[in-house]
Parts: sequence; C-alpha cells; structure tokens
Amino acid sequence: MEFRRLGKSGLQVSALSFGAWVTFGQQLNVDEALAIMTAAYDRGCNFFDNAEVYARGRAETIMGEALQKAGWRRDSYTVSSKVFGGSIENPSPIQRGLSRKHIYEACYQAIDRLQCDYLDLYFCHRPDRETPIEETVRAMTELILRGDVLYWGTSEWSATEIMEAYAVARQYDLIPPTMEQPQYNMFARYRFEVEYDRLYHEDTVGMGTTIWSPLASGLLTGKYNNGIPEDTRVNLPGYEWLKAMVESEEGQQRIAKVQELAKIADELGTSMPKLALAWCLKNPHVSTVITGASKVSQVEENFEALELVPQLTDDVMETIEAVLDNKEERLYGAS
Ligand SMILES: NC(=O)c1ccc[n+]([C@@H]2O[C@H](COP(=O)([O-])OP(=O)(O)OC[C@H]3O[C@@H](n4cnc5c(N)ncnc54)[C@H](OP(=O)(O)O)[C@@H]3O)[C@@H](O)[C@H]2O)c1
Repeated sequence: MEFRRLGKSGLQVSALSFGAWVTFGQQLNVDEALAIMTAAYDRGCNFFDNAEVYARGRAETIMGEALQKAGWRRDSYTVSSKVFGGSIENPSPIQRGLSRKHIYEACYQAIDRLQCDYLDLYFCHRPDRETPIEETVRAMTELILRGDVLYWGTSEWSATEIMEAYAVARQYDLIPPTMEQPQYNMFARYRFEVEYDRLYHEDTVGMGTTIWSPLASGLLTGKYNNGIPEDTRVNLPGYEWLKAMVESEEGQQRIAKVQELAKIADELGTSMPKLALAWCLKNPHVSTVITGASKVSQVEENFEALELVPQLTDDVMETIEAVLDNKEERLYGAS
C-alpha cells in the first residue's frame, strides 16, 4: 500500500480507502461488512469513511459493530463521520445543518454508533448557508481541542467557501479545515481539477482530499455496458435516481465512452475498475481514493489498482483523454 499525507497535515492515509455509503445497511449486514473491511484492512487500508446520514445512522452502527468484532488496534486505522443531513427521517432544523448544536450532537452520536472514543476525521457534509461559517469553524475547533475529533474538513464546499473557512480560522486563531471530500472520477472533473486548484498549494490552504465515487457508482466498471445487472445498487429502493441517470441520454453517452475505455484496459492487460481507479490515483492532489464495494471480490480487484499506476504513462493518459474529451482548464467566469 502507498500512503499519502493528507494535505499539509502529518496524517498519512492509505492511497486506497473504503466507505460505507449505500452498502452498509442496505446491501450488507455486520458480518458481510466485517468481511469487506477486513479485505481492505489486510491490503493496507487505514481509513474507513462514514456519515450520520448513511442509512440514517445504521451504516455507522454496522461499522462500529464490525470494528468491535475485528478487534484491530485503534491506532492502526482512522475512521470518519460527516455532519449535515441528520440521522433521522425528516430532521427538524436543529437536527441537521452546521450549527454548533447539531455539530456537537452529531459528533457524539457518531462516536456512540461507531463505538470509538474519538473521530479521526470529521467532515461538514455540505455547506450550510443558514449558519455563519465562523460558528462552524469555532465548533469544529472546540471539538478538536476537546479531543473528540482529530482533523476536520468539508465535503462539496465551493473553493470560495473553503477559503472563507480558512480565512476565519486564521483571523480568530481557530483551526482551519485540513481536507475536502469531493466527487472525482473520469466523468466528474471540473471542481477537483480546476476550481480547487489553488487550494492544493502549501502556501495557500495546502488542502488534502478524500475523493468519492471514483467508479461513478459502478458505471466506470463497465458493468452497465450491456444493460443493468440485477444485483447492483442501481436496483435498490431509493436509488431510482441512479437508474434514471444510467438510462438517460447522458448516461448512455458515458457508457459508450466506457466501452472505448475498456479497450484501453484490455490493451494494458487490466480491468476497467482498475483502470478507472488508477486514473484517479495518478492525480497527485488525491490524498486517498475512497472505494466502495458490495462484495469482497470487488475489494480484491480494486485494491490492485495501485499496481497499475506506473503503466499509466503520458501516452496512455493522452489516449484516455482523447476518449473522455471532457478536460476543462479554465475557471468559469475567469477571463
Ligand atoms: N461526501 C460525499 O458527499 C460522498 C458521496 C458519495 C460517496 N462518498 C464516499 O465515497 C465512498 C465511495 O463512493 P461509491 O461507493 O459511490 O464509490 P464507487 O467506486 O463509485 O462505487 C462503488 C460501487 O461500485 C460497484 N463496484 C465497485 N467495485 C466494483 C468492481 N470491481 N466490479 C464491479 N462493480 C464494482 C459496487 O456496487 P454494486 O455491487 O452495488 O454494483 C460498489 O458499491 C462512499 O462509500 C462514501 O464513503 C461520499
């Protein structure tokens, strides 16, 4: 396993990590979750991602029970939660968002469900435009000073919002965010590659990243190239939006590109999931790629992606770029 510093922090995260979205609570029970986490841990994974909103808290409960059963040393892995959406159906305004109250309560609830004494990483899952950023930065700083959280970060905040959090922290001597959790994959690139670009430099924010949906929810595995297989998240109740996305005109255009990319994978003697993950790993601003899996065999395959990275030469990257044809270099609005 390769380890990468999380931005300019001293924390070395495994370049491939594992998250619980969709799978824990809807596709996997505790023992199945444990088997998958064990497959990842045995391959060097040291970061397990979660959120209060995943299966309305059940994903954290399952991960907590799996961690208890695994019995791994607490200092051998990191675990996260994310606050914003609430952990119950129809949360009231004080049961969601980024107010000090909800940030505190969601943190302690996550610690209970995950059965750990503290969260290594704690993310603001989305920006909360009804709460002043200063209140959120103060609450996160207080949690860190209390020892309940080690590093805090954002998820899907704009570059401007991240800069504002950073500036507020610097102005009031608070602790700035360390990392952002954005979507990044062959089909979702603009924000990661262009909008955030100046935030990666150590003389600005020095931001680390824990990227999500590296396989675009499975689309980039090629599993939808000839129709939708039965045992996949696209068929789960509550994920009709994903099925609609796959079946849409845009989804079909993407599938046509995956069919082309699969030929490149073939030529390299590898698989489409490994090619798509290695492509993410190739970007030096990615601290860790959070993978997802509903089966142990998927973890076994995905964690081999690191070995492919050296094969992604400039020529191969250019061939991939020609198929994707979606690279943007200019910030929208910039002249
Ligand atoms: N911050 C955020 O807003 C946010 C949002 C989304 C996700 N996340 C985080 O990122 C993590 C990863 O996201 P994701 O689960 O969407 O990642 P993904 O890699 O895009 O999709 C994972 C899914 O693809 C399928 N798959 C994976 N490997 C495969 C393989 N080798 N062969 C065939 N199918 C394979 C599996 O679904 P099936 O077997 O069901 O087809 C698996 O559950 C989440 O668990 C979560 O921790 C964060």
